[in-house]
Order: sequence, then C-alpha cells, then structure tokens
Amino acid sequence: MLWTIFLLLNGVVILVLLFSTRTRKKNEPPLDKGFIPWLGHALEFGKDAAKFLARMKDRHGDIFTVRLIGKYVTVLLDPNSFDAITNDTDCLDFTRSRNQVIQRIFSLQLQSINPTAEREWMEQHFRGLSLSKLCGSMNSNLQKLLLSDQNGCSPSEWRQDGLFSLCYSLLFRAGYLTLFEKRDNTTEVYNEFRKFDDLLAKLARCSLKREESKTVTLSRERLWELLSPKCLRGESESNSWQQSYHHFLQENGIDAEMQKKALLLQLWTTQCNAGPAAFWLLGFLLTHPEAMEAVKSEIRGLTLQDTSLQRPPINLLEAHSTPVLDSVLSETLRLTAAVMIRREVVHDKVLQMANGQEYHLRRGDMVCLFPFLSPQMDPQIHQEPQVFKYDRFLNHREMKDTFYKNGKRLKYYTMPWGAGSNICVGKDFAVTAIKQFVILLLTHFDLEMCDPEDKMPPVNASRYGFGMLQPDGDLQVRHRLKRTQNES
Ligand code: HEM
Repeated sequence: MLWTIFLLLNGVVILVLLFSTRTRKKNEPPLDKGFIPWLGHALEFGKDAAKFLARMKDRHGDIFTVRLIGKYVTVLLDPNSFDAITNDTDCLDFTRSRNQVIQRIFSLQLQSINPTAEREWMEQHFRGLSLSKLCGSMNSNLQKLLLSDQNGCSPSEWRQDGLFSLCYSLLFRAGYLTLFEKRDNTTEVYNEFRKFDDLLAKLARCSLKREESKTVTLSRERLWELLSPKCLRGESESNSWQQSYHHFLQENGIDAEMQKKALLLQLWTTQCNAGPAAFWLLGFLLTHPEAMEAVKSEIRGLTLQDTSLQRPPINLLEAHSTPVLDSVLSETLRLTAAVMIRREVVHDKVLQMANGQEYHLRRGDMVCLFPFLSPQMDPQIHQEPQVFKYDRFLNHREMKDTFYKNGKRLKYYTMPWGAGSNICVGKDFAVTAIKQFVILLLTHFDLEMCDPEDKMPPVNASRYGFGMLQPDGDLQVRHRLKRTQNES
C-alpha cells in the first residue's frame, strides 16, 4: 500500500516537473508560467481575467503565452492580426474545446452534430422573412409583458425595481415566448435560469463550493424539466423555433435525453446577453443626461403614427434609421461585451502578425483573443476608453466606422459579436430586440433613478469571457406608465 502511494506521488511530481519545465523556443511568443506549478496563473485569471491580461499586456505586449491549469494559452491582443486566427480552420479548431465546455456546463454531448450544419440551421431562422417574423413576435411579446407587469398598479403609481432585474426579466421572458413553446411557465423558467446563470462562470471553471454545486445541479435538472417540450412527449406539433430545433436534433440522431439537455444550452445562448445589454444601455443613459436627451429627441422625431401600447405597432425600426441609438448601443457593447474567442492549435502553426513578425504556435496549446482589452478598451484606438461617450460611433448623423491604431485603419475596432465563422448568429435579432425594448420603455414610461446621485454598479469581474458582463449589484429605478398612456 505504502509502496503504491509512493509510486503515485512520484508520478505526480514527475508530471508537475514535466509541465513546469517548458521553456520558450526561438520564435515563440513570450512565455509567462506563473509561480504555482501546473496551476500557473489560473487563480488570478479566474478572479478578474481583464485585470490579469492587462497586466500581462503591459509586461509582454500584444502577444504572450500563459499557463492556466496545465494548459498553455497564447493570448493575442493586436486586432490587426485577428484574421490570422479567426480565418484559420486548418491548424486551429473550435469544436473540441467548445464541446468540452458544453459537457461541463450543460452535461451535454453533441459530438455527432456537424457544426456547419447546425450553424446553417440557425442562420435560416435569423435571416430574411424568418427574422422579420421573429422580430414582430418579439415586439408584441415585449408590449404584452410591459402592460401585464403593470396590472395591479394604479395608473399613476410609481413602481420601484432594480434596473438589471427589470431589463433581464422582460427581455428574457419576451425572448422565451418568441422562441420556445411553452407559454405558461415563463416566470418560473426565468427565476430558475437566473439561479443557474449566477453560478455559470464558476461551474465553467470548476470552482463551485459544495453548496453551490448542489444548487446548480438542482437548478439544471429543474430547467430540463421546465423546458421539456410537448413534442418530446408526443403531445403537440407546432411550428415554433423550438419545434424546428427538435426536428434538427432528431434528424441528427440525438436521443431524447440529450435533446432535453440541448434546450438549456439554446436557452442560455439565445437569452443570456440581450437583457444585460439593455441594462447597461439604459443605465448609461440614466447616468448621462445629455445622452438620454439625444436619444429621446431622436425617438420623438420618429413619425409615431400610433403611440398606444395596446394597439399593434408599426415597425418603426424598419422604416427609420436611428444613428444616435445605434451609437449608444455600440458604445455600450464596447464597454460591456467581453467574449473570449478560443481556438485549439491542432497542427503547429506560424502566426504572421500584421507588423510582419512571425510567431510559432505549438500543437496542443490554446489561442485566445480577448477583444474587450483590445480593440474595445485600447487607448490607442479609443480615447479615454473607460468613459461612456454616447456619440463615439457617430459621424454627422451617420455611424462612424473609421478607427485607427498606429496609423493603420482597423477592420475590428469593436467586436461584441465575435468574428469569423462563429460570429453571433442572432446579432440582427438581438440589436432589434434591444432597440425595440428601449424605444417602448422610453416612449411609454417615465423612468428615473431613485437616487439621482447614484452611480452605475461595478462589473462582476468573474464574468469576463462569458459574453455580456453583468453588474455586481443593481441600479434602483422607478417607473410608471406615462400620463397619456394612463388616460388612453
Ligand atoms: C447583446 C446581445 C448578444 C451578444 C453581445 C452576443 C454575442 C455573441 C458572441 C460573441 C458569440 C460568439 C461566441 C464564441 O465565439 O464563442 C455569439 C454566438 C451566438 N449567438 Fe449571440 N449574442 C447576443 C445575443 C444573441 C441572441 C439574442 C441570439 C439569438 C436569439 C444569439 C444567438 C447566438 C448563437 C446561436 C450563437 C452561436 C453561433 C455559433 O456557434 O456558430 N445571440 N453571440
């Protein structure tokens, strides 16, 4: 027995030494392993990835390799060189590491699905006529919910809410009603989803405490049940987006158990970003009165033929351009969208940087782009990058798209939607939904901060890398239907 333990310990020590002895080879990016064997920089990275990577950028520049839990990750922070990563499907692979994360978070295995076929299936629904139908349905669901949430309040009564809860809850429930089949359990699904989403970053990093682990497991099981469609039980045939997804999975030979789990992945992908984005946007407007006035003035200028919430709306967004609101949305996403684009190096690769320098990437390592740091928060591209400037993306009432770094015009000056073959499929739907929501709210409701001196809450630093950031805390607001609405 003692002998076995001794051998095991020896094995572990040899492995640790093996992983610790990696040295930088000629032409490889600067290597920073951190002091802790095997773990490397994992603790600092998990706590606040943006702060850690900014520190590494100061030390090493636009490209470096760090050690995280036994893996070597090369981080590239030069947006002019991003295409060399996002366009390479020969040496770099997206699916294997994505499948591992999906397995860990959603307990889901979809290996038999061809990612290109899945993407094509998704794109059908978020383009052309299908997209128009989804946007129309989203708009009417938002209106219904905004009105029904007022039931029980006397017309001129103010209601107090956290702005984050208000935005997330409304956009989530409207999105769920638009894409999913069940219509009678929206609030329950939303409440359960928030418990799951709150622990998601820790679940992905395997850093849950025992109690949290129980909560997340129960919550996930409850969501599988809540989402389980009637069609899985042979009870209904509808033509919803969810029904179409169900057929797609069936055609690809996914069994009933995995189909149930896949729905939670889709719920997360389609519903976890728009609500937080609307929160940041409205929060910035409330704390920047000149921006609020510019947006309100633009909305007033839209020819509102029917301003009643009760009657079907004309599709204002199809008929009119809204450059100020577009600039506010781009600026909001620049400050609060923080995706990490990851690829696995499956064959040794020579990375050609925009400045002509070449770096060797080793097979088995990961490559990661973190556009939040650069281009989005890069002071060489955006002056005073920490500051919200509502007209940053505005150029004489047109959207500005000319930004430079080191005198070179940038293709990627902000990247909230990702890039290349994995760029967000739902971008147009998300942009329309957020704008619809903001226009509805500002047109039909009085909305103000409970305390005019309040500041925006800080960012929850553990969520860097998981799409839209979320606040640590909330901004208290009060709202009521506008007088003209009360009287109609
Ligand atoms: C502000 C809102 C949103 C932001 C910032 C956002 C951002 C992103 C990003 C960065 C990716 C790529 C992830 C990666 O490379 O790992 C992505 C993927 C995706 N998004 Fe969005 N998204 C938003 C809203 C939505 C909405 C509302 C939908 C659908 C209703 C949607 C559907 C998808 C899908 C299906 C993918 C997967 C694409 C693929 O794997 O090829 N997104 N999103």
